[in-house]
Amino acid sequence: MIKKIGVMTTGGDAPGMNAVIRSVVRTAIYKHLRVCGIKRGFRGLIDNDIEELDLHSVSGIINRGGTMLKTIRCPEFKDKKNQREAVEHLRMHSIDAVVIIGGNGSLAAGASLYYDWGIPVINIPASIDNDLCYTDYTVGFDTAVNTALEAIDKIRDTASSHDRVFVVEVMGRDSGSIALEVGLASGAEAVILPEVKFNPEKLCDLLLRGYHRGKKSSIVVVAEGAAQGHEIAKIISAKTELEVRVSVLGYMQRGGAPTAFSRALAGRFGKEAVEELIRGKGGRMVGMIGNRVISTDIKKVLKASKSKKINMNDYKLIGILAI
Ligand code: F6P
Repeated sequence: MIKKIGVMTTGGDAPGMNAVIRSVVRTAIYKHLRVCGIKRGFRGLIDNDIEELDLHSVSGIINRGGTMLKTIRCPEFKDKKNQREAVEHLRMHSIDAVVIIGGNGSLAAGASLYYDWGIPVINIPASIDNDLCYTDYTVGFDTAVNTALEAIDKIRDTASSHDRVFVVEVMGRDSGSIALEVGLASGAEAVILPEVKFNPEKLCDLLLRGYHRGKKSSIVVVAEGAAQGHEIAKIISAKTELEVRVSVLGYMQRGGAPTAFSRALAGRFGKEAVEELIRGKGGRMVGMIGNRVISTDIKKVLKASKSKKINMNDYKLIGILAI
């Protein structure tokens, strides 16, 4: 029987992490559990930066980007000595189980805590990258896409006023999810993704064909993991007469008020994570597949996510709609 749980955010922040924390804390208290917030992810666990949270601690955060618990990437947690200290701190605070909110780095750490140290852990997928399997969406992805969309809509105004091609670089070190989704939603002429081999000739032909048909401005969305926006612009300039400009959207995609979708998903995931722990489960990640909240073994998620595919139908659709 668990009496007290810990909650932490890890890796890159994502809009909606605060809404997850709120859901975890409120559900836990509703179920008569106590909750501790672990600050700065695994660094806080190693450093014993842990404090009890109450209903009021999570007031007024559902609409705020970032994370009230702060976050950090913590490669030191791979070290068994640090893990031992972390586990001692959990015991010191009588924390029986942990909810870890974050992306794929947090899954590996969650697996260590569960499989090597026997701590019941439930992971909640939160990352702007949407790069995990066994969930259709991670918390924060929808917000990041909408932030990028708003920016691209504005860029389109100036692109069409000046008859220019704009290369817009979006985030996604290993994943083209944001580029693909925002490319489709913004009506981009082309997207360049880490998962699909880039063909410079094909891109330039497409832009020139459009130009000669009367399409004087175009948008090319590139995921940072595929290439730098400036590199792509150089290629287009070298192979065509088109006037090209670049916009790197960068970290604005990680911040801002979460969308309704990100907040609602956060609420569902937080509740499910706490309920899984109460059911005696551990070593699992909650997720949503086709509108149903499910949970999956962390190791299975990690293995499958290493080679997560992008939706090639959407990729082809962008090409069809840019005709
Ligand atoms: O959290 C995901 C992400 O924003 C990626 O899209 C990006 O490549 C990476 O994090 C950047 O991480 P950091 O801020 O640690 O350099």
